[in-house]
Amino acid sequence: MNIDISAKEYSVIFSKKGFNYLNNIVKNSNYSKVFLHVDNNTKKYCLDHFLKQTNLKNLELIESKDGEENKNINSCLSLWDLISSLGGDRKSLVINLGGGVVTDMGGFIASTFKRGIDYINVPTTLLSMVDASVGGKTGIDFGILKNQIGTFYDPKLVIVDPFFLNTLPKEELLSGYAEVFKHSMINDNNQFNELIIKKEISFDHQTIYKSILVKNEIVLKDKKEIKERKSLNYGHTIGHAIESLFLNTNKKLLHGEAISIGIISETYISSKLFNFPENKLKSIKSHLNSLYKKVEINELEIYDIIDLLKHDKKNSHGKVNFILLEDIGKPVYDKQVPKDLIIESLKYYLS
Ligand code: GLY
Repeated sequence: MNIDISAKEYSVIFSKKGFNYLNNIVKNSNYSKVFLHVDNNTKKYCLDHFLKQTNLKNLELIESKDGEENKNINSCLSLWDLISSLGGDRKSLVINLGGGVVTDMGGFIASTFKRGIDYINVPTTLLSMVDASVGGKTGIDFGILKNQIGTFYDPKLVIVDPFFLNTLPKEELLSGYAEVFKHSMINDNNQFNELIIKKEISFDHQTIYKSILVKNEIVLKDKKEIKERKSLNYGHTIGHAIESLFLNTNKKLLHGEAISIGIISETYISSKLFNFPENKLKSIKSHLNSLYKKVEINELEIYDIIDLLKHDKKNSHGKVNFILLEDIGKPVYDKQVPKDLIIESLKYYLS
């Protein structure tokens, strides 16, 4: 079996090869129970394909509700309860079949049940393929604040099967594209130039593979996010605050939609504080604006966004820490940004 992408503790394997690997793991590991964690969408659209690709028998299905608003402790309580009442023990395995909510939350319940049981991620959205399911971060939201409770806990295996992308609406693909684009921005000009000129974006095996490679290399250098891994949060300081603000409202945004605003604003800030090239800033704004719908943000909401920044996980000693760029592939870490410049950057997005 040749591995497509190898992290230290786990592997990312594509399509049929990945499912064969999963069959072998289950055959050779003597698990007491194998739980398959789905949500209402993946049960309907992805379960059938998963079952056809594997020859796993006697799976116990455990289900959570889709949507970021359900990535919380109540859903975890239901999942722990199900696993426990179905006879789960320390030798059980959880397979997460779903998007970022399923893989983040499924990883979290596995990492804490009986102090940690094995889990495997089978991401079904572009976002979870390129970001959520690799890197070993698990977690849930706390109120409206994203990913505030969680663990670093690696899956045994990640299977990426681009087939699942056929089950997704266009907005979900676009949501994942924001992370693909971010990976290119923190990596190098080649990848960035390839993406920025495209009017029609593609989500093929090669694009996904390259994007996961960028993340994997960074995580291999700095698993616990002491330095380099922080660059994966580019666009997320402002992006997460916007996503949180609109979470339970009729302006609710998909993760990638909020991150694309974060990328534009934080690139603007980068241009003011670190001379990020003006021509690239303009291309980034017009590329992302051509893909994502324009979000109106009023004056009051701008102040709410600034207020929410104080909960960002990169903060320390009461300071809001930004990741900024001197240029494509040249991140700078833990930079403080004056409030007025943050306001100006959101106005730049809105202009
Ligand atoms: N999504 C950011 C990270 O995995 O570090």
